[in-house]
Amino acid sequence: MAGSELLRNEYYHTHFDPDAYIKTYYSILDGSVIGGAIPFILERQQDIFKAGDVKGKRLLDIGTGPIPHSVIPAVPFVQDIYLTEFSASNRKYLHDAVFGSGKQDYSNIFKFFSDLSDKSQPWTKLSEEFKGKVRGIFPCDLLKDDIFAGSYFPLFDVITTSFCMDAAPPDVDTYGKIVKKVSKYIKLGGHLVYVGVLDGSFYFVGEEKFYALNISADEVKAFWKDCGFSIQSWDEIKGSPECEDTDFGSVCVMHCIKES
Ligand SMILES: C[S@@+](CC[C@H](N)C(=O)[O-])C[C@H]1O[C@@H](n2cnc3c(N)ncnc32)[C@H](O)[C@@H]1O
Repeated sequence: MAGSELLRNEYYHTHFDPDAYIKTYYSILDGSVIGGAIPFILERQQDIFKAGDVKGKRLLDIGTGPIPHSVIPAVPFVQDIYLTEFSASNRKYLHDAVFGSGKQDYSNIFKFFSDLSDKSQPWTKLSEEFKGKVRGIFPCDLLKDDIFAGSYFPLFDVITTSFCMDAAPPDVDTYGKIVKKVSKYIKLGGHLVYVGVLDGSFYFVGEEKFYALNISADEVKAFWKDCGFSIQSWDEIKGSPECEDTDFGSVCVMHCIKES
């Protein structure tokens, strides 16, 4: 660990333990963990997709990390899913879970979404459908000019991203530049489903303290609007002051359409 510095950027390659991250934030899906923010975002994501208007052929997820929850509610509504991730170890973890013999099956997350949509369908059906639609897990560095390191992608119908665009940039200006870069990958009329932290500064992964960008709701909304997006819905849940794992003020879930 780098003294008292919060970890970011290359520390994701070496200090981010995927199992510890999933155990802390995604293993118990109720109000007892970070003020209930995770079940809140899963439900909001499901609400955005369930009406069936947010759909298309190709979906890009930015910064999937070790867990693809941001994509799961979209599975019935898209054909091809492209996952992207900065850290090679998270890419391997995801690859083993999706294509290989990884022990991680995300069963509680799939069950959560299955229960929200149609209790008669087993979670394994949604999981198989997801695995059948993933076309690859690609490198991504939002701080580079060429964020996908030479991978050629045509425009996407849907972009999803969760807790990534506030993990990468060192400051709010850089966040704005990242919004511009990401905007270029979405079709006119395409959808963005964005999950982010607001007014926070850190989160723990095991013993390791990672950096989070301190950004406000107004700043997030303004950057996306400036890039031609119209906000269709915006929901927030407040952080819990007693929580020691992270200090976010709130978590937001935003749905936008690219209009210009
Ligand atoms: C808090 S995790 C979020 C993981 C997952 N999407 C979720 O919702 O739980 C932060 C993610 O940001 C990614 N990240 C960090 N720096 C990045 C960068 N420069 N470019 C792209 N992604 C980055 C990390 O690799 C990690 O997957």
